[in-house]
Amino acid sequence: MGAMRIHAAWRWALGVATAAAAASGGTGCAKAPEYAHPGGTGGSASVAGAGGTSGRGLPSVALTPPMGWNSWNKFQGGVSDSIVRQIADALVTTGMSAAGYTYVIIDDTWQSSRGPDGVIVSDPARFPDMKALADYVHAKGLKFGLYSDRGISTCGGRPGSFGHEVVDANTYSAWGVDYLKYDNCNPAPTSAGAEQDYRAMGQALVATGRPIVFSISAWWFFPWEPAVAHLWRTTTDIEDNWTSVMSLLDRNGGDTTRYQSCTTCPAASAGKCVVCDATLPEAAYPAPGLAVYAGPGHWNDPDMLEVGNGGMSDVEYRAHFSLWAIMAAPLIAGNDLRSMTPATLEILTNPEIIAVDQDALGVQGQPVGPGTSLEIWARPLSGNATYAVALLNRTAAPADITVTWASLGLTAGSARVRDLWARQDLGSFAGQFTATQVPSHGVTMLKIEGD
Ligand code: GLA
Repeated sequence: MGAMRIHAAWRWALGVATAAAAASGGTGCAKAPEYAHPGGTGGSASVAGAGGTSGRGLPSVALTPPMGWNSWNKFQGGVSDSIVRQIADALVTTGMSAAGYTYVIIDDTWQSSRGPDGVIVSDPARFPDMKALADYVHAKGLKFGLYSDRGISTCGGRPGSFGHEVVDANTYSAWGVDYLKYDNCNPAPTSAGAEQDYRAMGQALVATGRPIVFSISAWWFFPWEPAVAHLWRTTTDIEDNWTSVMSLLDRNGGDTTRYQSCTTCPAASAGKCVVCDATLPEAAYPAPGLAVYAGPGHWNDPDMLEVGNGGMSDVEYRAHFSLWAIMAAPLIAGNDLRSMTPATLEILTNPEIIAVDQDALGVQGQPVGPGTSLEIWARPLSGNATYAVALLNRTAAPADITVTWASLGLTAGSARVRDLWARQDLGSFAGQFTATQVPSHGVTMLKIEGD
């Protein structure tokens, strides 16, 4: 008898958002039912067809986690028009665009000043003609993204959008912007708060009529974000090292044994907090934490990828990429695509790992085992009794890791196992599967299908 899915085990995908809203007394989470999943249908009740709007009034884009490239992790303030054109070329010639990477996003420091009419002016030396650059990116079959900030200046000290939301949204639309990352530095003294500032830009973008992905970069989860944007940063900035990747995994994964919500945020948030909401008791965020907020058109964002930037081994980069896929995270490459190694390209373009990330069901994975050093992360995929499983070894030595069908919510029986990095079917197994000698800081990534 083959293993079959028991739906109850996947409660976070099937209505925990509604429970969280009830627990909160409606404050902040009142929108939750709008973005709860209908169980197992592969779509969201809140999302209209292509070209329509989501139930939140946002354009129906980012129905799977956005994929693309962003300039910050590699180039910071050194990004330029010519680099962006070469990156767009490389996205096509390397096969990355064919693998799904679509958005080319210029992060901070492209701006220089505002004209007398209030219109933002791009840095004349590094970005002489933003419209021409967007046209170049579009001609490659790619989409174009920019960065701004809800404050008076960006984190890099360039002009922010506070008080200029409408004129900026209109400028972006005229240039052909498809994606806006919106940061959280230097709030205006007259700001009514982060939520109001983010809503102002969100509404201005919607009012342009152009379907623009709205990506909040506010570094912690705020319960109003899913009503306002397509994705939102849940963590502080990623760094190109293993400690950072594990910290972001725990925060975005909502591992409430390591990270809690804070009622005195953001001041107290630097160390441990995931959720910033002074009005909500911690009990409003039971495990599995932030995963309940993810789904088609609305994603938790543990920050961009560091794969290929040199600070980690390929084993660690494979783990980083696997875990972002298990978490249904945006896959925004942050390396120099013009000069990456074959190993980096192979990691970034593995079709079976990408397929996990982009699965239409859109359920964010969670830890399903008790371990905190040998961890089992899993997410249900579309299809019958199908799961992606990441077996993560956080220790310093190779180790065997066993996933049981019961921990996935499968009945006892047999299930087929495929290794997604080896791209190999391993056979049919009864009750459980053991990956032998998972390397230190490595992940074995599996697809498991009940027979
Ligand atoms: C913040 C963001 C980063 C990046 C920089 C740019 O730190 O979190 O992702 O955009 O600002 O200055």
